[in-house]
Amino acid sequence: MTTQRTRRQFLQDSMLAAAAAPMFSGLAHAQGTSPNDKLLCAVIGCNGRGGDHIGAYSGRKDVEIAYIVDIDPKAGEKGCATVEKRTGRRPKWVKDMREVFDDKSIHFISTATPNHWHALCGVWAMQAGKDAYIEKPISHDIPEGAALVAAAKKYGRICQVGTQCRSNPAVQNAVKFMADGGIGQVNFARGLCYKRRKSIGALGDYPIPEQVDFNLWSGPAPYTSPKLTRPNMHYDWHWQRLYGNGDSGNQGPHQTDIARWGLGLNRHPNSVITYGGRLGYQAERNDPNYVDAGDTANTEVAVYDYGDKCIVFETRGLSVDESADIEITTMFDSTKGNKIGVIFYGTEGYLVQREYTHCVAYDLKGQVIKEFKGGGDHYDNFIQAVRSRKSETLSSDALQGHYSAALAHLANISYYLGENNKVSPKEAQAVLEKVASRDQNIVTLNRTLRHLRDNGVDLNKYPISMGPMLAFDPQKEVFTNSDAANRILHREYRWPFVCPTADKV
Ligand SMILES: NC(=O)c1ccc[n+]([C@@H]2O[C@H](COP(=O)([O-])OP(=O)(O)OC[C@H]3O[C@@H](n4cnc5c(N)ncnc54)[C@H](O)[C@@H]3O)[C@@H](O)[C@H]2O)c1
Repeated sequence: MTTQRTRRQFLQDSMLAAAAAPMFSGLAHAQGTSPNDKLLCAVIGCNGRGGDHIGAYSGRKDVEIAYIVDIDPKAGEKGCATVEKRTGRRPKWVKDMREVFDDKSIHFISTATPNHWHALCGVWAMQAGKDAYIEKPISHDIPEGAALVAAAKKYGRICQVGTQCRSNPAVQNAVKFMADGGIGQVNFARGLCYKRRKSIGALGDYPIPEQVDFNLWSGPAPYTSPKLTRPNMHYDWHWQRLYGNGDSGNQGPHQTDIARWGLGLNRHPNSVITYGGRLGYQAERNDPNYVDAGDTANTEVAVYDYGDKCIVFETRGLSVDESADIEITTMFDSTKGNKIGVIFYGTEGYLVQREYTHCVAYDLKGQVIKEFKGGGDHYDNFIQAVRSRKSETLSSDALQGHYSAALAHLANISYYLGENNKVSPKEAQAVLEKVASRDQNIVTLNRTLRHLRDNGVDLNKYPISMGPMLAFDPQKEVFTNSDAANRILHREYRWPFVCPTADKV
């Protein structure tokens, strides 16, 4: 099969596969099988995170990786070689995932492609009767997440999202401790991604590595040009908005997911406002005219209002070593280095998720009350559900993944709309003073500005941007006060890489 086949052929195939779903593949094979019977799978996208997927499945006796799918043969070869070394069996490498969807023997796919491919890959897989483990964020925009939720329901598929903290006893027990009143009433959580991200190189024209199929890599995103605008093909797309979602959509879905979980928020927020910028790389490169190839914010603060509850998510991509945020960094035990986690603020104490497998509860004086440790196996949780067909046993189903990915998309829409609205610290303060939130907005703003100045950012020359306050209808999944925001809610696709909307999956 080639990518040249007609749209009609492809739709026919998809419809046939969908109609046949209960008759073949995941459901028929996985149900009632003994744990020793092998489930056949395909790992799709295996340069970085895909290696973790390969490691997880190739270590199991009850799963066989039958396919490695990657549009880069070098990454494909690396994946195949790892599987062969670990299991003695070499999987088939293909570069077009649609070959896997056509193979009725495959029970599930596990995908770690770039973000812009997640939803279409998942929808196609489920239409073809496969179960799907999909990396976070499960979508590149909000309607894509809704499409995945609808597809899982319509085709009766098991769909796990790669927010693996949900399977970790440390976080599960900490969330239960809070739900049982361990730190009193909790209405506010702050997620942090204080993680150094250096410039990805100057914006420019760079060759696409010869072996890569850039048409397939681009997929649902625009086929911009036969050149890359960033030096590195892999990974750095995270910081280009056509493909990635910045750290709001990279690290963010882990922490905002835990924040929502801990606050018991199984829905979208009522509003969002975001400020920040892609700042500091001129100072980093010692060149006042330097333009980095990334176009997502490296410094971003998003305030989400849920009525009686609130989440704030802070991204910092510049150095966080000398951070003067004593009230925050002491909870992470160190001022130096990255600080990634969630702080819950209760009436009787705090609970901090410090690491994926470590949470600590404090009283209001900062004394440790209780510690929670322990990791789990998110892949195993998925496999168990594939066999039992009980999607309610998943730690992270499509709906939870959708809500958490949506927080990134909401933040970025406010940021993108306000990108050219450059504001002085005083103007930013004037806006944030009017924003109702459970956070002390001005304290957070001042900490953020201090962090930028500490990193050599001249705020007069490179001011921050202030996004609009966007009101969101959590049920209808549309903005209620901005046509401009609704216009960028959903991407335009490039045929034939079209992810259907939820009502058309
Ligand atoms: N859960 C976690 O903790 C975690 C950690 C890291 C990354 N991730 C997620 O994993 C995903 C991949 O991230 P990464 O850092 O490994 O990116 P990467 O760019 O290093 O790797 C992506 C791979 O996908 C391949 N690919 C691209 N389009 C493809 C297609 N259409 N079909 C098959 N293969 C395709 C690329 O060639 C590449 O080998 C991202 O969505 C990221 O958010 C999750």
